[in-house]
Amino acid sequence: MSLNLKFDYTHISSFVNDDIINQLQPEVDTAHEMLSNKTGKGSDFLGWLDLPFNSDAIVSEVIEVADRIKDKADTLVCVGIGGSYLGAKAVIEALQPKKGVEIVYAGHNIDSTSLSRLLKTLKDRKYCVNVISKSGTTLEPAVTFRIIKDNMKKKARKRIVATTDKAEGALKRMADAEGYKTFIIPDDVGGRFSVLTPVGLLPIAAAGVDIQALMQGAKDCAEAISQPDLSTNPSYRYAAIRSALYRAGTRIEILANFNPALHYISEWWKQLYGESEGKENKGLFPASVDFTTDLHSLGQYIQEGQRLIMETFLLVEKSKKQIQVPPDKNNYDGLNYLAGKSMDEINDNAYQGTALAHKDGGVPNMAIIMPELNAYNLGQLIYFFEKAVAISGYLLGVNPFDQPGVEAYKNNMFSLLGKPKAK
Ligand code: PA5
Repeated sequence: MSLNLKFDYTHISSFVNDDIINQLQPEVDTAHEMLSNKTGKGSDFLGWLDLPFNSDAIVSEVIEVADRIKDKADTLVCVGIGGSYLGAKAVIEALQPKKGVEIVYAGHNIDSTSLSRLLKTLKDRKYCVNVISKSGTTLEPAVTFRIIKDNMKKKARKRIVATTDKAEGALKRMADAEGYKTFIIPDDVGGRFSVLTPVGLLPIAAAGVDIQALMQGAKDCAEAISQPDLSTNPSYRYAAIRSALYRAGTRIEILANFNPALHYISEWWKQLYGESEGKENKGLFPASVDFTTDLHSLGQYIQEGQRLIMETFLLVEKSKKQIQVPPDKNNYDGLNYLAGKSMDEINDNAYQGTALAHKDGGVPNMAIIMPELNAYNLGQLIYFFEKAVAISGYLLGVNPFDQPGVEAYKNNMFSLLGKPKAK
């Protein structure tokens, strides 16, 4: 199966040449074997690799439940944090679907102002709630869910769907006791790799996105990048280039889009890459910018600040709506040289100009290009990034599937809050 995504790394060669990248092939082969044979670090958490191939039954069930939500509600409140909301939000914001319910998000902070605003909005809505937590014990969504539930009439609680672990955690116990419809997060899929499980699929389907197309995209990508050869596998080449640049002193990777709809794809990507690689005092720091907006702020630093940065552009070739610049007989603004050009064409020139300027300023950059924004291509993109970070993490020598660092703040917070010790 072919990949719809294109990968352009022309602007890398003046920083690390093809020979240096190709020399990583033996290490990439080893990483690939560790992943395929489940012999590497974190091998209990490789279930995401197979999701596009073994999820037909769950996808059908998710669609049924999403249809019921669409029948009875106008809003779905998604309560979750980190991997339990970013994937869904990334896909929904990118596609802005029209055929489903409005998805609103809660439980990804501890801010009473935004929650009280949400509770006020919900008074006038017919809403369902999807509470999502793999551990079932994360404080932010748990507290938020308690407050939302407290605001619901008892009989409205049949509008709650819980997505959680099959056996463990307070949320599972509550769901069983109170009789919520439940979806299971597979044991072998970590939070940041869970967008293609019901964690992401239910909100995405309820929002009106074709999740079968999303899964098909992921499946076709999985097949297209199944071999480790760096000359034919762009996901692995992306991983190898990141690794070569990291070894040469790069410390920050910026994911840069030219379409604001991709803002939350970057947020999802930052969690995926930051939690997978940022450990043992290693890893590229994943940052993001929305261009051309941020060319008028962070653009200055990227062009001329400390040379620790590489950039990955995330591009869309064709927008859903085409707008052309009209001619103007007076031409006071001097823009008649653009008359008849589409915004896409101007945006593409902005990208080309930026990529060249940043390369000339000492920022290696490459581009991942989607022909257009649709569920199928996003499925490909998700799988492309997931597989790349797994290989990249192994090249770095870390376990890409754990996140021990997220416990530190929790331990301090719980002790400050006086949480009773587990018996
Ligand atoms: O990637 C991860 O595992 C984390 O970021 C989790 O997604 C996040 O902490 C939420 O955890 P949970 O789903 O257990 O509430």
